[in-house]
Amino acid sequence: MNTPVTIGPATLYRGDALAILPHLEGSGFDSVLTDTPYSSGGQFRSDRVQDTRKKYVVTGSSSINLPDFSGDNRDQRAFAYWAALWSGAALHACRPGAVGMFFTDWRQLPASTDYMQAGGWVWRGIVPWCKPDARPQLGRFTAQCEYVIWGTAGAVCADDTAGRIPGFYECIAPRNRVHVTQKPVELLRELLRVVPVGGCVLDPFMGSGTTGVACIQTGRHFVGIELDPVHFDNACERIHDAYRQGLLFDHASEAQEQTRLTLE
Ligand SMILES: C[S@@+](CC[C@H](N)C(=O)[O-])C[C@H]1O[C@@H](n2cnc3c(N)ncnc32)[C@H](O)[C@@H]1O
Repeated sequence: MNTPVTIGPATLYRGDALAILPHLEGSGFDSVLTDTPYSSGGQFRSDRVQDTRKKYVVTGSSSINLPDFSGDNRDQRAFAYWAALWSGAALHACRPGAVGMFFTDWRQLPASTDYMQAGGWVWRGIVPWCKPDARPQLGRFTAQCEYVIWGTAGAVCADDTAGRIPGFYECIAPRNRVHVTQKPVELLRELLRVVPVGGCVLDPFMGSGTTGVACIQTGRHFVGIELDPVHFDNACERIHDAYRQGLLFDHASEAQEQTRLTLE
C-alpha cells in the first residue's frame, strides 16, 4: 500500500479501494459518502465499455477534454457483485450506526439498493438530486435526477439525530470541473449534515476529492481513496486549497446547532 498523503484532517490513499479498505477495518468511520463508477451510460455491453467522456459528457462541451476514469465498464452482474464487495469492506471500517450514502443514476438504482444490502447495510431510503439544467429529451421524460441511496450500519444511533434534514436537493452540476462526473460541493456539504461535526467520513472513490473538500469546509475529518493518479493529484490539490481557506462561515456554527438540537 502506498504511503497516504495527509492534508490537515484529510488522509488520502492512492490505490484500489478493494485492496485498501481491509486495512481500514475497525477505524470507526461515522459515514461512507461516495460516488462510485456507475458502469452506466447505455443499454448494451458495448455502450458501457465506452470512454467515460463519451458516456457522460454532452457533445460539444469543453469537459470532453477531461481525463477518462477507471472502473466504469462492468456489466450489471459484475457491477452488483463488485459493489457488494467494496460496500461490505467499507461497512467493516465503520462504527455501529454509521450512515452510508452512495450516489447512483436511474439505470443502476435497482442494482444499487441490492448491493448496499448485500454488503450488509440496512437500506433506509433514496435522496433525489435534481438537476434543473438537465438536457431535455423531446417527447420523453427528462432524466433529470441522480440519486443518493442511504442506509446505516445496523440500528440508527439515537445520539446522531440532530435537526430536520431535507430528503431532496436541487442544484446544477459544476461548470468548471476537473473530473467528468464531478459532483457539486454544495450538495456534498448538505449531505454531510447527517454526520456529526468533527466526525470522520470515508470516500473510497473520491475522484477529484469533492467529498473531501466538503468535509474540510464543514469541520469533518476525511479519508479518501482514488485509483487514477491524475484524479488523485487533482483531489490533493483541491483538498489542499480548501484546507488553506478553512471552514466556510455558514457551517462554522453547525456544531453548536447540532448540540443544541440534540439537547432539546
Ligand atoms: C464517479 S467518480 C467520483 C467523482 C467524484 N465524486 C468527484 O466529485 O470528483 C469515481 C472515481 O472512482 C475511481 N475508481 C474507480 N475504480 C476504483 C477503485 N477500484 N479504487 C479506487 N478508486 C476507483 C475512478 O477513477 C473515479 O475517479
